Amino acid sequence: MIRGIKGVKDILPEEAARWQTIEGAARRLSHLYGYQEIRVPVFEVTELFARSIGANTDIVEKEMYTFPDRDGKSLTLRPEATAGVVRAYIEHALGSSPTAQKFYYLGPMFRHERPQAGRLRQFHQFGVEAFGSDSPRVDVEVIALLWSFLSDLGLPDLTLEINSLGDAADRPAYKAVLLDFLKHREEKLCENCRRRMGTNPLRVLDCKTPSCKAATEDAPRLTEHLSPSSRQHFQEVLSGLETLGIPYMLNPRLVRGLDYYTLTAFEVTSRHLGAQNAVGAGGRYDGLVEALGGPTTPAIGFAVGLERVALMLPATAVVPPPKLVYVAAFGAKGMPIGTRILHELRMLGVCADTDYRASTLKGHLRQADRLGATFVVIIGDDEAAKGQLLIRNMHTKKQEELPLSTTARNLASRLKTS
Ligand code: HAM
Repeated sequence: MIRGIKGVKDILPEEAARWQTIEGAARRLSHLYGYQEIRVPVFEVTELFARSIGANTDIVEKEMYTFPDRDGKSLTLRPEATAGVVRAYIEHALGSSPTAQKFYYLGPMFRHERPQAGRLRQFHQFGVEAFGSDSPRVDVEVIALLWSFLSDLGLPDLTLEINSLGDAADRPAYKAVLLDFLKHREEKLCENCRRRMGTNPLRVLDCKTPSCKAATEDAPRLTEHLSPSSRQHFQEVLSGLETLGIPYMLNPRLVRGLDYYTLTAFEVTSRHLGAQNAVGAGGRYDGLVEALGGPTTPAIGFAVGLERVALMLPATAVVPPPKLVYVAAFGAKGMPIGTRILHELRMLGVCADTDYRASTLKGHLRQADRLGATFVVIIGDDEAAKGQLLIRNMHTKKQEELPLSTTARNLASRLKTS
């Protein structure tokens, strides 16, 4: 038997209702906030990710599924979708539109991480990207959309953590101050952090190793080294969140594992998730469009890990399947009538099913019960001979006789109102 790949899961029909609930909420909220769907490819040229996420990040260094195409070009399965959306934005000159460009996407992403609960190698994200405005009001809108999505689904114990990473001009000055601080504590840092000091010292603040956390407890904070305009931007984002009643927690250590961020960075966590506690995260990336060859374009977005949402989704949030009518047709005369009724009900938009393997009423009723049917239409040879059919309410077990000439429309409306 050939098995699936480690960290790559099948989503079986029994889980589909959860996924449909989650994806339905994502689409509904995106449309409510004026975001349109964009579908970008699941693979792109490797350079796109290296240049946008950053060559020295864990994602690019260790986690990408990269392979040569048959013509030798290096391709990569997308580890996230922001880079692809930005590429599409530039390639199709979407910025030339007079309206702000706001997109959402749903789809699989690929990272070669060590699989554990809530961490997979193929996982799914719902994300949004808003291009064209540097107003802190967009930051508030994007965070509000993320917050409404997660709280509408009833996910428990959510915390919004937020930080400002400063703009491109704030960063070098802060890096120098931070490096100076880290140099005095180098021997207390893990090997990875010592390496990061040379590549991206900010990431040291994000290290989960307890000794690194302790050593950097009193590290200088980026928020204390912001320029007046970055500071004002951050203040306006925070007061916008307060206006909307969205609770937040300042986290000066929140750095994010992707290099493209500027100014606002945020993460929503839940303690219900264990080690992999980030449900969704994002931030501003005002320099990325330009860095990839497009016009100067401020932008901000987030992505939510849908497996993590699915893990936390309360059963009460799952949208129940529509009522099902089961058609129990048997006998040489009953079966063709059943086939017609089944077809007509479906044409009227009623979910209708049968089991073609069942040949007795008892067998049919057992299957109707297993499928969770609300009603069963019974039509056997006896009923056909008498010119009638039966409707059985599976809940009350009451049966009602109706003439065979009853139209499917009539049947459907009875079924809907019963
Ligand atoms: P990210 O923080 O790398 O950001 O991922 C966002 C979310 O995807 C995480 O919070 C987590 O829920 C989920 N996730 C990440 N890796 C895995 C995994 N291996 N298994 C399961 N879930 C995972 C981004 O991807 C950015 N593109 C977000 C963004 C959009 N920033 C601006 N626009």
